[in-house]
Amino acid sequence: MNKLNEGSFTSGDTVSFWMDATAVISCTTPDQDINTEVLIIGGGIAGLTTAYQLLKAGKKVVLVEDGFIGSGETGRTTAHLTSALDDRYYFLEDIFGKDGAALAAESHTAAIDEIENTVRSLKIDCSFKRVNGYLFLHENDKEENLDKEYQATQRAGLPTAIIEETPGINGGETIRSLRFSHQAQFHILQYLKGLADGITALGGTIYTQAHATDINKKGATVNGYTFSAQHIVVATNTPVNDLFTMHTKQHAYRTYVIAGKIPKGKLPYSLWWETADEESKWVAKPYHYVRLEHFDDKYDLLISGGEDHKTGQEDEEGISQSDRFANLEFWTRRYFPMLDDISYRWSGQVMEPVDSLGFMGKNPGDDNIYIISGDSGNGMTHTTIGAMIIRDSILGIKNKWEDLYNPARITFKTSGDFIKEAANMASQYLDWISASDLQNTADLPAGEGGLISIGLKKIAVYRDYNNTLKAFSAVCPHLGCIIQWNNTEKSFDCPCHGSRFTTDGTVINGPAASDLQPIGIKK
Ligand SMILES: Cc1cc2nc3c(=O)[nH]c(=O)nc-3n(C[C@H](O)[C@H](O)[C@H](O)COP(=O)(O)OP(=O)(O)OC[C@H]3O[C@@H](n4cnc5c(N)ncnc54)[C@H](O)[C@@H]3O)c2cc1C
Ligand code: FES
Repeated sequence: MNKLNEGSFTSGDTVSFWMDATAVISCTTPDQDINTEVLIIGGGIAGLTTAYQLLKAGKKVVLVEDGFIGSGETGRTTAHLTSALDDRYYFLEDIFGKDGAALAAESHTAAIDEIENTVRSLKIDCSFKRVNGYLFLHENDKEENLDKEYQATQRAGLPTAIIEETPGINGGETIRSLRFSHQAQFHILQYLKGLADGITALGGTIYTQAHATDINKKGATVNGYTFSAQHIVVATNTPVNDLFTMHTKQHAYRTYVIAGKIPKGKLPYSLWWETADEESKWVAKPYHYVRLEHFDDKYDLLISGGEDHKTGQEDEEGISQSDRFANLEFWTRRYFPMLDDISYRWSGQVMEPVDSLGFMGKNPGDDNIYIISGDSGNGMTHTTIGAMIIRDSILGIKNKWEDLYNPARITFKTSGDFIKEAANMASQYLDWISASDLQNTADLPAGEGGLISIGLKKIAVYRDYNNTLKAFSAVCPHLGCIIQWNNTEKSFDCPCHGSRFTTDGTVINGPAASDLQPIGIKK
């Protein structure tokens, strides 16, 4: 089997089903200076879709990805294609008005259609299918909220209906749900492979293992070469060119996924989601999300996700990462008892915008630098919408969704949530004075990391499998929070804005733009 992260770090140590089932998608590495019309940084669904849209419109495009295609969060997704957004439409109406909520519904519906058109025109074999989605009530949510959501989705023009059952789930005969028709699903890495082939067929250039630094209005430095461009699209999930703005508008959450086989034909291909856990302490309240994917002639794979918490803060609920996987399995077996042994466990990071909608368009304060971020658990569609908005912006066409998703927008109605997230962020600075988790480095087994204090200094340490101890300043180079060890994904994660670093200190997630500072210590 091919693994995307063979011998090298992607955005985590665990391997998703998609990564396991797909050959690594790599291209050439940079070997000269480049001049192009559009430089795209990031080879996930956001970057590739933007590249494809611009090439179809006749633009000259170069894309750089510092890992491999799909080796970021896109390779860790569960790839529901849906207009049933994470946060409810009645909430969107409250913030953006009825017209805004309707535009959001229209844009996500159009994004699914656009993905379907791309699959058809590039003849991508990625098991794209149209399916129904069922939203049912979390045990801590109120019945009336399902009805409220039904009314709001109807006003937004979506094809929904309240039904007195939830088809497919255990006990579903008596569980009311809100059905969303004409949703979809696909195999994400097969889709990206098709998109990458489509990009090169249209004359686009993709570089992998190509790290962009010094991103500015003229381009970027990529593996030491000068890449100049008229337009720069930062499609790195979290903008890596952000010091002042975007990290205050969105918050990083970790979410968990398990997958196991079920006999083929036992369940209809569908999407299932709970409403949110209203008693959760997090501003972005967690929920569970489930779907099927073709596995082989005998089996489908049931893929179930949830148990989210703010990045680097699982301890705040006293639930370890292994317990989160166990809780997820417990919940999944309750509704899907036919689930076989668990074949895959992985986790990933989602960026939750404080007002529920993604940030796609011109980077605040810039005329020719664009970003796609804040795409929450609806990143497949959000990024596709972002690609269309940025394509139009570069072509000088006014896009009807541009204002709704404008990264520079300020949303006053979410000030309560904003204050809660800001207070949570500020409290992370207390880690400077709180106790460290290791008494001395001799406690540290191979393959694990942690923090130690030496005087007033906080040090991040990792012992590799050759028993070599590596040490770095535990101070995040973004804005100085203390990073935390993520034992599932073997990374150091920042609890403030979600920057992440490998065990050798290399930054793999912004907003931090530089690596952890190495420290020489005695073993
Ligand atoms: C567990 C999980 C489940 C999800 N489920 C769903 C779902 O069911 N439906 C849905 O719509 N969304 C879902 N999402 C969200 C969705 O997967 C993401 O929002 C989406 O994949 C983000 O795509 P992206 O291209 O913006 O980011 P990424 O895929 O992370 O791509 C960004 C790329 O930029 C590269 N990069 C970063 N910095 C640099 C640099 N300096 N130079 C060069 N390259 C750089 C990274 O290596 C990375 O590959 C889920 C997410 C997770 C984690
Ligand atoms: S990500 Fe902002 S301080 Fe670490």
